[in-house]
Amino acid sequence: MCSIIVRKTGRKSEEIDYFCKFSVLQARYWIMEATEAGKLIISLRNQIEENNRRYYVDNAPVISDYDFDQLLYRLAELERQFPQFDSPDSPTHHVGSDLQSGSQRFARRAHKYPMLSLGNTYSMEEVEEFAARAARIIDTSFTYSCELKFDGAGISLTYRHGRLVQALTRGDGVVGDDVTVNIRKIKGIPHTLHGSGYPDDFEIRGEILMPFDSFDRLNKEREDAGEEPFANPRNAASGSLKLLDSEEVGRRGLMCTLYHIPSQDITGQEGHYQALDAAASWGLPVSDKRKLCSSIEEIKDYITYWDTERKLLPYATDGVVIKINSLEHQRELGYTAKSPRWAVAYKFKAEEALTKVLSIDYQVGRTGAVTPVANMEPVFLSGTMVKRATLVNEDFIRSFDLRIGDTVKVVKGGEIIPKIIGVDLSSRPADASVPVFPSVCPDCGTPLIKEADQARWYCPNASSCPTQIKGRLLHFLSRKAMNVLCGEATIDQLYDRGFVRRPSDFYQLQMRQLMSLEGWKEKASTRFLNSIDASRKVGFDHVLFALGIRYVGQTTAAMLAVKFGSIDALAAASYEELKDVEDIGETMARSIYDYFRNEAEIAEIERLKAAGLQFEMKSDAATEKASDVLAGMTVVVSGTFALSRDEMKALVTAHGGKAASGVSGKTSFLLAGEKPGPEKVKKAGELGVRIMSEEEFMALIGKGNNKEDNKEEEAFPEDLFGGMI
Ligand code: IVH
Repeated sequence: MCSIIVRKTGRKSEEIDYFCKFSVLQARYWIMEATEAGKLIISLRNQIEENNRRYYVDNAPVISDYDFDQLLYRLAELERQFPQFDSPDSPTHHVGSDLQSGSQRFARRAHKYPMLSLGNTYSMEEVEEFAARAARIIDTSFTYSCELKFDGAGISLTYRHGRLVQALTRGDGVVGDDVTVNIRKIKGIPHTLHGSGYPDDFEIRGEILMPFDSFDRLNKEREDAGEEPFANPRNAASGSLKLLDSEEVGRRGLMCTLYHIPSQDITGQEGHYQALDAAASWGLPVSDKRKLCSSIEEIKDYITYWDTERKLLPYATDGVVIKINSLEHQRELGYTAKSPRWAVAYKFKAEEALTKVLSIDYQVGRTGAVTPVANMEPVFLSGTMVKRATLVNEDFIRSFDLRIGDTVKVVKGGEIIPKIIGVDLSSRPADASVPVFPSVCPDCGTPLIKEADQARWYCPNASSCPTQIKGRLLHFLSRKAMNVLCGEATIDQLYDRGFVRRPSDFYQLQMRQLMSLEGWKEKASTRFLNSIDASRKVGFDHVLFALGIRYVGQTTAAMLAVKFGSIDALAAASYEELKDVEDIGETMARSIYDYFRNEAEIAEIERLKAAGLQFEMKSDAATEKASDVLAGMTVVVSGTFALSRDEMKALVTAHGGKAASGVSGKTSFLLAGEKPGPEKVKKAGELGVRIMSEEEFMALIGKGNNKEDNKEEEAFPEDLFGGMI
């Protein structure tokens, strides 16, 4: 038997039962001051939005679902305790979004009915509470449909007159990407239904999955080609759906399983389970692992059985979904803004494994932060072989008293790099060595520093540490900045040959320089130069973001660009003027102010101006990027925004939508700024109308995005908890 110790840092401990942890938390909240709570709420919202983006948009999550759910629970609890801070745009009130801002690949279309999420639980007690709550409302006996919770990419298919006419990704729940061409290439999804009795026009929803064998094959191919492997089958499925080459989608070995027909679209069926049986009879792929249960004991048996048995399935599942079966009862129970009241998801705990730490690497990030990473004996975990785990920072290593040679317990959540959650002291070898955190930067040799309130060591040599310079160059070209397709390997080549040291150098690159790089031919060189050239037209808001001013993310950059109109006006702003701008706090104002007082930065801006980049907002900026993304939608605008309300309405119209004044059943969503009209919010809640934040709206119309903002460093699990518990 091995005795696993868990960290006793006063932070998060996976081993403590969630509910026990929760009550400790609650006790802390009671004595927490409102201002502290307010700050924590903002921090949690930022972390959640950031992780939503990493999960849904980048397909590269950095925390496990469990840790994500914990963040949401904490936020929900804080908002409950401090209702003065609750806000309609909190992520507790809306689902994450897989929509990519910037260059749009697929047409976006509104879902006929919003694609919602599910309430999650990790405890049997909460499943019991769910059943008890339903029993209080439903006054007859009823049954539950128990199903597996498939871990893939959500999809909504529309069949009209028996033919597949549309497939939308979940998107942000209101609008999704139209990936019909890709869906038609996936085996098992019928283009035409057979049998009879299907509705004339209906939607059916489910999940696109990448089975483990396809996943392993794809990742091997990617690694052989020097590409980044996918973190897990879910990300691989989601990434594959967004490919432009539908033939390649067909080759990826994806599968589909369908589990939900919105009750409005079902005719002549008594319950959800029977509706899915009917769908199967029309040739649609429906799981045969479903079970009708009539008691909590049967539900528990189903959960226990599949918690073990799922390890033998060829695809990923992450829990069980329990649904009240009767459609009439479902209608009676209805929805919250985010999820149905007639269903709950019980999530399985992440799998764990024991392995040995062989050595530790110290990696420098683009902001200079140094992260220790453990190299371990390879171990099989959740369908894949793992050999590296993040050690977060020096305190993290200390909290376990981790030694090289120790046997550790690792879990793999959503992230590609698993994390260590415990050390087996009983099997520590006599020669286990205490890791020595480097005192100098492993890249440039500069002595590392640590600020008083920070847990991480930093390399302060921002101006000449190669890793940091390369990180900033990569950021400058990134999709949401100058939008030039360029990977780390290219930056390495350009840097190592001395061709680029600062962003303006990209605009001096010559064809012959690129052609001299290993593996570069004429076609790739021309494409790269054309792309650099095209970036001269990228709008001022993106250029401002590309500059990489500390704390100025994409949303802030867009807002500052609109507010000040030009780089000169922004550079001339006093600290007070900056601080008075809504949403700009002292730290950000100081950072922006200092940036424009730094001679090296000013000189670089001058070089970029000379290269022809946009440093002024076009006068018709509000309507410049008009699209039809809001076609057919009626939007109610309420509250205050960075732009005036009239400008926001103009944006709605410019993107094909209709601005209306009152919330009704016809409203597609309520666009809520600061202090939206309480009546409108209440009505939206009653009618199940989606409430959208300014930020989400900006992301939707492609002018801004979620939270690249304030993303100064890779978010690691422990940082996300900010020492709360
Ligand atoms: S029913 C109104 N059933 O899990 C929501 N969802 O975490 C109806 N999911 O958004 C969804 N397996 O994408 C349902 N058997 C299942 C599912 C399932 C996976 C997904 C779905 C949902 C997400 C929530």
